[in-house]
This record gives sequence, structure tokens and C-alpha cells, in this order.
Amino acid sequence: MNIIITGGAGFIGSHVVRLFVEKYPQYRIINVDKLTYAGNLANLRDIEDKENYRFVRADICDFDTIYHLMQEERIDGIIHLAAESHVDRSIKDPFTFARTNVMGTLTLLQAAKLYWESLPEGYAGKRFYHISTDEVYGALTVNHPEGLQPEFSAHEVYGDTFFTEENKYQPHSPYSASKASSDHFVRAYHDTYGMPTIVTNCSNNYGPYQFPEKLIPLFINNIRHRRPLPVYGKGENVRDWLYVEDHARAIDLIFHQGAIAETYNIGGFNEWKNIDIVKLLIKTTDKLLGRAEGEDMGLITHVTDRAGHDMRYAIDSRKLQRELGWQPSLQFEEGIELTVRWYLENEAWLENVTSGDYMKYYKEMYKQ
Ligand code: NAD
Ligand code: TYD
Repeated sequence: MNIIITGGAGFIGSHVVRLFVEKYPQYRIINVDKLTYAGNLANLRDIEDKENYRFVRADICDFDTIYHLMQEERIDGIIHLAAESHVDRSIKDPFTFARTNVMGTLTLLQAAKLYWESLPEGYAGKRFYHISTDEVYGALTVNHPEGLQPEFSAHEVYGDTFFTEENKYQPHSPYSASKASSDHFVRAYHDTYGMPTIVTNCSNNYGPYQFPEKLIPLFINNIRHRRPLPVYGKGENVRDWLYVEDHARAIDLIFHQGAIAETYNIGGFNEWKNIDIVKLLIKTTDKLLGRAEGEDMGLITHVTDRAGHDMRYAIDSRKLQRELGWQPSLQFEEGIELTVRWYLENEAWLENVTSGDYMKYYKEMYKQ
């Protein structure tokens, strides 16, 4: 197969590109990425010379480039991860989110439609796989503030409702509204034109190569430098966390074995209150840096809450587990230790993305 992976220079995309390039030497993997502030080719240094890999710097909103690339590379599958992904940025600049997440997805769909419909075999053997988020479902309530420990969950659960694939869409932030809109367009291309599509909605990811504007890498970096840790509100909001490589494995499985026109939720039943994660991060980072355990608890600083801050996300991924046999591989404490260790050992990567040096490098390299 010849596959375009969009957003492959970003956090999750880089793990998906690496997995596909290494696991499927018989496939051709084309990473299409605009290299916004969130895209970084250093995330793929270890595989960039592989023969089955090609990087193309392009904007997914650029129809001509995408269409011609599909023709040139005879694309059979698209795994679409390119997006603006940070809620706080979407609150400040919603238009960029509508442009990339909505118009960019629509542009890809239309390019794929025209190209695939021009082939003698049409849509046979083709696949458009759209990666989305649980945030499209809105927010759940916390009605067990101390948490419960049911059998199906690896960790406490803070409420008695979960997002299932049947949940209605009720996005609250410009980010989740733009992702919801893109999900609707993908479904519409299946229902209207018969395009073979799949959508997955995953919970919060964490792990190596995440841009340090998101909670976990930002806080690890701040703890290392003994900077304040800005916890929004009381820190009681709940998120459901999945190690990024487990998400990449799910994407691989669903791309190959998922049923056309289906939606799958991806999550590891791993709910945590923000404040508990922050404490775990401090404990783990202090331990790995040889500091007295918990020495940096004083860095916790409660700041003004995020506007429209969703209270709780909790994914019910039993459909994926039941139908395709997927399971998360790591306990959260193990995953966090791996993650903290990675950020501490990859100080140069972190310095580079926080100083903005990598943007200068790209501007010179691509003369723009
Ligand atoms: P990210 O911000 O780290 O990476 C996004 C990538 O897309 C970057 O490489 C960026 O350069 C590229 N990009 C942005 N605009 C583009 C454009 N117009 N054309 C081409 N490339 C463009 O994001 P991420 O956290 O890796 O998320 C990837 C996908 O997974 C997104 O669609 C996101 O909505 C979804 N998702 C993320 C999470 C999470 O916790 N991070 C959870 C569930 C779903
Ligand atoms: P984030 O990593 O931005 O992911 P999302 O908003 O998509 O869930 O934030 C995770 C949680 O951490 C969310 O409840 C907001 C909170 N948060 C803070 O308290 N402080 C911060 O500086 C950031 C970035 C997030």
C-alpha cells in the first residue's frame, strides 16, 4: 500500500509514522506536514533515511498539491492526524482551527474522492482514516469525587457515565467544535459518496515528543527548571490518559482490521484528576533527578481556570477491545516514569523546541 500520513511530524503522528515505516517495509509511507510550530522533523530523525519513507512539506488546505501527490504516489490510504490540537490556542485563535481542522479535512476528502473515483477500481481497497478526539462528546460530570474502583477500569473512575460511540456530539471549545465538524464531514463522504472511511476518537495522549505546551511535558520541564506549575482552577478536572504508543498500535490495528464506516473509541480506562497527575509528576521527576521526593510540591500554583473548561473525559473503549482485541500495554505510573525519563534524557530536544531554534532551522532549510 501507498499511504499518506498527515501531521506525521507532530506528537502522535511521529509515533504512527515510525510504527508504519518500521513494521511495514513493503508499504510506502508519505508524511505530509506543514511544519507549524507543532511539527518537528527531529521527531523522526531515526527513520528519515528509510527507503519506504518520504517527507513532503505541504498544507492540507492546498488542494492542488494534495491531489497531485495522490496521483504521483498512487495513494491507497490516508491516515489523517494533521490538526491544530491545543485547546488554549483555540480559545485565542479559533479561525486557524476552523481552517486547518475543518477546511483541511474537507480538502483531503475531496482530493481523495476525485482521485479514487478516477481509478478503474474506484474505492475498492482504499481507506480514509480520520483521527479524532473524545473532546467532541463534550464533558461528563464528576459525581464520585473520591473515585470508585470498578472491575473494568485500571484506575479509579470519577463518575458513572462514559463516552461511548453512541454519545451525541456536544463540543464546547473551538478546538473540539472544529474536530466535531471534521468528523461529520468524514461521515458525510461515506454516506454521500461511498468513500471507505473510519473515525476514531481517542482520549488524552502522553509520551515522548509531545509539544511542551500540553500539561505533562510542560510540567516536567517546569519541575526540572523549578518554575511554577500553573494548575487551572482547583485541579479537579479529570482526564483519561493513554500512552501514545498504545494509541499508535490501535491506529495500526484499526487501519487494517476496522470495519468501514465505523467509529471506535480508544482509551485505557485511566482517569486521573489533574492535581493527582501533577503530584505524580513531581514525585517521579524529583526521584529521577536525585532530589528529595516531593521536594518540589511548592511549585504548584493555582491559576485562573480555562474558559469553558470541560470537567471530565472518560472513554468507554470496550467496543475496540471486544471487536478487535486491542488492550493498552502500560500502567499509567510505568508510562509516566518512561515519559519523565525521556524528557530528562532528551534535554536538547526540549531546549530546541522551547527556544524556537527549530523554526529558524526550517525557515533556512526550506527558504520560507
Ligand atoms: P500536534 O499538534 O502535536 O501535531 C499536529 C501536526 O499537524 C504538526 O506536525 C503540524 O505541523 C501538522 N499540521 C498542522 N496544521 C497543518 C496543516 N494545515 N497542514 C499540514 N500539517 C499541519 O498534534 P497531536 O497531539 O499529535 O494530535 C494529532 C491528531 O490526534 C490531531 O488530529 C488531534 O486532534 C488528535 N488527537 C490528539 C490527542 C492528544 O492527546 N494529543 C488525543 C486524541 C486525538
Ligand atoms: P491539555 O494537556 O491542554 O489537554 P486537554 O485540554 O486537551 O485535555 O490539558 C490537560 C488538562 O490539564 C486540562 O484539564 C487542562 C489542564 N492544564 C492545566 O491545569 N495547566 C496547564 O498549564 C495546562 C496546559 C493544562
